[in-house]
Amino acid sequence: MKTQYYTATTLDGFLATPDDSLEWLFALPKPEGNTYADLIANIGALVMGSATYEWVLAHSGEVEAETGSSWPYQQPTFVFSTREQKLIPGADIRIVQGDVRQHFPDIKSAASNKNIWIVGGGDLAGQFYDAHLLDELILHVGAATLGTGKPLFPRLSQRGTLHITSVHHHGPGFAEIRVEVKREGAEEWESK
Ligand SMILES: NC(=O)c1ccc[n+]([C@@H]2O[C@H](COP(=O)([O-])OP(=O)(O)OC[C@H]3O[C@@H](n4cnc5c(N)ncnc54)[C@H](OP(=O)(O)O)[C@@H]3O)[C@@H](O)[C@H]2O)c1
Repeated sequence: MKTQYYTATTLDGFLATPDDSLEWLFALPKPEGNTYADLIANIGALVMGSATYEWVLAHSGEVEAETGSSWPYQQPTFVFSTREQKLIPGADIRIVQGDVRQHFPDIKSAASNKNIWIVGGGDLAGQFYDAHLLDELILHVGAATLGTGKPLFPRLSQRGTLHITSVHHHGPGFAEIRVEVKREGAEEWESK
């Protein structure tokens, strides 16, 4: 069971514009050989912040046109928010708040031995990293820049914790980079 932060990012490390637009992503040529089908088949639970959840709610028409459903996930989804959120009838959505460590046992149990997808945003993925609960980053780096926006991973990574395990070219628009989060590596590095 792994906790995976799977997302698309610009070359300069942004997920979205400051006002949560993903136009940059939809403007790129579709990635060739996308690994989404393999990822989602092994996911038991999703985790996202409120801006990401609210984006899906606000763009339900586009999401439905793309996936056939305004909420394309069968798995339980944990939405971190300090505010009341609109729920989607028929979807297993659980609104939670506070320390990610406190909620991890419930998230893990909901995932039933499958992987956990941290959908975003970057700070929430960083909260799992800080809590030593993040195992892998799977980044679709798009051939676009924004200059400003919602950051991919606003953390100073401990030296030796991030190890690139693969890089794949997915056509002119995207490259996929997989990065393993290693804690033992960090300890070895720090002791040198
Ligand atoms: N490029 C991609 O593939 C991709 C992937 C994912 C997301 N996105 C987009 O990128 C943007 C991400 O937005 P974002 O960086 O603002 O991140 P976000 O994680 O989606 O939302 C951040 C908000 O979540 C709530 N939150 C986070 N941690 C919490 C905690 N521990 N307890 C309670 N509430 C918590 C807070 O809001 P409240 O407490 O006010 O609710 C916080 O302001 C969105 O536009 C999303 O659609 C893009």
